[in-house]
Amino acid sequence: MTEEEPTRLWGGRFSVGPHEALADLSRSVQFDWRLAPYDLLQTRAHASVLGTAGLLTPQELAEVDAAIAQLAAEVVSGDASPSADDEDVHTAIERILVERLGAVGGKLRAGRSRNDQVATDFRLYIRDAAREMAVVLCDLQYALIEQASAHIETVAPGYTHLQRAQPISFAHELAKHVHAFGRDLDRLADWDTRVSISPMGSGALSGSALDLNPEAVAAELGFASAAGNSIDAVSDRDFAAEFLFVTAMIGVHLSRLGEEVCLWSSKEFGFATLDDAWATGSSIMPQKRNPDVAELARGKSGRLIGNLTGLLVTLKALPFAYNRDLQEDKEPVFDTIDQLEMILPAMAGMISTLKFDDARMTSVAAAGHSLATEIADWLVEQGVAFREAHEIAGKCVQLADQRGCELWELDDDTLQSVSGSLSPAVRAVLTVESAVAARTTPGGTSPTSVAAQLALLTEMTAAHRQWADISVVPSLFEK
Ligand code: ARG
Repeated sequence: MTEEEPTRLWGGRFSVGPHEALADLSRSVQFDWRLAPYDLLQTRAHASVLGTAGLLTPQELAEVDAAIAQLAAEVVSGDASPSADDEDVHTAIERILVERLGAVGGKLRAGRSRNDQVATDFRLYIRDAAREMAVVLCDLQYALIEQASAHIETVAPGYTHLQRAQPISFAHELAKHVHAFGRDLDRLADWDTRVSISPMGSGALSGSALDLNPEAVAAELGFASAAGNSIDAVSDRDFAAEFLFVTAMIGVHLSRLGEEVCLWSSKEFGFATLDDAWATGSSIMPQKRNPDVAELARGKSGRLIGNLTGLLVTLKALPFAYNRDLQEDKEPVFDTIDQLEMILPAMAGMISTLKFDDARMTSVAAAGHSLATEIADWLVEQGVAFREAHEIAGKCVQLADQRGCELWELDDDTLQSVSGSLSPAVRAVLTVESAVAARTTPGGTSPTSVAAQLALLTEMTAAHRQWADISVVPSLFEK
């Protein structure tokens, strides 16, 4: 008794089917079914140029379009799914269309290969996914901007080497993350110009002898142009690697923000309290409120870097045109997108509900003689060379340490004994508020500078959000 043979797109020259172990190794449909809507979109565009070339009659083209529309709805609702025997998404879609359309379904492979198909589907998918991810990254941006706007006047300690360095506006501390993620969003928009190229028409590797119109297919799929080299087009995965770099960078930025939240919410810092909904407890220590969201963001950045590294290693020294190694390109991208779709909303929720202890931040901002630079800057304004001013301020720090007092508590005689240039008037600059207010460079920490920057960051984020909202990949359900 012979069982029915599974559909294969390449059976002709073989006398037996593949060994089960090969079939298992080879199968990608369990993960690439995610590309099904894009395979249908691409099939529809391909059918349309087959029609223009006279390779499908108007009647056949109408049948194909109707079958694709029907299948698209079923894919989205989950009513259509691949069979366990389908090798990949392209096999599954062709099998279903042939089952429904008969011989007409079999005409759709003319002039294309899975090599140009998979490269096209993947580009369509990643352009959509990048925009969805950018939307949630913008939500995090808005959460940071909102918290920053509420803390423009909050003086906090600024750190270098994780040691208190100079007082800053806490809004400045928060806003720096918006600048970092803003660069990531800029990178995505820039990356999109390179992903906007259609491999269709490349065939297996050398182009197509049929009179098809790759530029028309490109335009119908929302790409800026068709590829200029068919060999490159079927083997180029730069767009995936570049996407994984941009997202790994997002992961690195998330990890640095996550690390700060861990520090701020520790009892040692005491700067922030996590909202109950965004903290976890301990199974043994009832008092614990753990910053798991921040820690997972920090931890998952390693995974995102791993996804980039894995793909780069797959691509390294790979011969051009299609090699099956390239099937390894999709899972790291899918995983990175899935991880970010979880991390980003959680980070936005955690950030927007953090309660900051402004009084605590301000009270420690002056400790550790973080105003020593003010003495040096004040002396420079009196005409003292900075080299000497630094020495004098350092001497003041030494004396204050010996006496266990603050810089502004050094008496007039002591100031004079350190330097004839140090008059009691220097005390006017020895407050954290004046130190912060004085730093009025455009990127500086004064409340006026920070407020101006926040206005720019709000505009920038609105522009990024607008980019993310415009979908470039045409809808499967409109034509
Ligand atoms: N499943 C394959 C992939 O993901 C599709 C391309 C197969 N092409 C081939 N020549 N076997 O890369």
